Amino acid sequence: MSTKTASQHSIVLGVSGGIAAYKAAELVRLLTDRGHQVQVVMTDSAQRFVGPLTFASLTGRKVITNLFGETDSEIRDSSIEHIDVAQRSDLLLVAPATADILAKFAHGIADDFLTTMHLAYTGPVVVAPAMNTNMWRHPATQSNVAQLAARGVTIVEPDAGDLACGMVGPGRLADLEQIVETAEGALEGRTRTDDLASETVLITAGPTQEAIDPVRFIANRSSGRMGYALAREARERGARVVLVSGPVALTPPNGCEVIPVETAEQMHRAVLERLSESTIFAAVAAVADYRPRAAAPTKLKKHGEPPPLELEPTPDILLEVGRLKGGRIVIGFAAETNDVLENARAKLAAKNCDLIVANPVGSDTSDTGFGSSLNQGWLVDSTGEATELPSMSKREMSARILDKVVHLRKAVESSRSSR
Ligand code: CTP
Repeated sequence: MSTKTASQHSIVLGVSGGIAAYKAAELVRLLTDRGHQVQVVMTDSAQRFVGPLTFASLTGRKVITNLFGETDSEIRDSSIEHIDVAQRSDLLLVAPATADILAKFAHGIADDFLTTMHLAYTGPVVVAPAMNTNMWRHPATQSNVAQLAARGVTIVEPDAGDLACGMVGPGRLADLEQIVETAEGALEGRTRTDDLASETVLITAGPTQEAIDPVRFIANRSSGRMGYALAREARERGARVVLVSGPVALTPPNGCEVIPVETAEQMHRAVLERLSESTIFAAVAAVADYRPRAAAPTKLKKHGEPPPLELEPTPDILLEVGRLKGGRIVIGFAAETNDVLENARAKLAAKNCDLIVANPVGSDTSDTGFGSSLNQGWLVDSTGEATELPSMSKREMSARILDKVVHLRKAVESSRSSR
């Protein structure tokens, strides 16, 4: 089902030639699902990797592939087309951006539609580079990227990992959700701040898995997206981030320290080990409340009656951090099917939190919450005041949560200095 957001925009997606060009098709789908209109512009080399028809089918629009048309009338029309497209769009997003495109953008070279449009364009520009690690690390590329960043272009840094060329290192196109979130951030005019530069944020994310036997476990539907979005936002605002993560299928955000865990017990231990260095704690994980009392040492066989499953409680990590709080800002999450605000306020008090993010969950919230890139709910503070968070990206919600944290921090500091 297509999920429309409050603000929908007209985006030019430039696709340049690299093995990651095929991922731009999924990016188009994510952007159009969110209600944006996408005009794809392909460089010549991009067309060697993916056919324009793929993008034309996904966007329902002609893909712009060259600066000059082939017939006289096409030549006349297309000579002004790049100006027209530039004037009509709210954002220029290039994904994947090759080393060549970055160099051309940095030096103002205009030798095809995309690079010409870039010069004619006055709105926000976001580039998501993808290339071989050595090309990415080359001083020429790094200096081009630095020039673009200094000019206000937003760079979605490539992820590290196995690359198509067989190398391992930074160069892989960033997570597509991250590209979408960054693009939407640029559309909303969010500028990068370093307002969390003095903070260390400890975050739990994802589900936990509690073993029944060596091959089976109790888990839940948490995708980890909210915790990862919060980690990414905190990192980009200058914080040091330690992310204690249950098993998820997500790429860790750049620059965050990730501690992978499986069980509630391991998550609990990792949090206690790293708590002293944190100034903010956010419990985003969907921790299993109960685990099997004893995991069977061998695979349970199917014969006779079903085996009884005896459960015992897991440690409540947030409750314990609330007790050990000190000067930390403690944020909890509350997924509720009913009496959302009432339950959230009770949880905030019981677990000694400064903030609770309350999410309604249930059959009518399938577009938000678990597994979705969107979320909605309320931000409840310790005075009991609740601010509604309408349906928005998990990244945007993270920004709102951290804005509130900065506000709380300032309030504490000013009350201290007035004493
Ligand atoms: N939490 C935790 N450790 C647990 C259980 C929950 O740290 N063992 C944290 C979650 O990360 C979340 C908050 O507590 O931030 C609330 O979790 P939730 O499951 O909604 O609430 P519970 O306290 O488990 O209460 P209930 O399930 O009864 O609503």
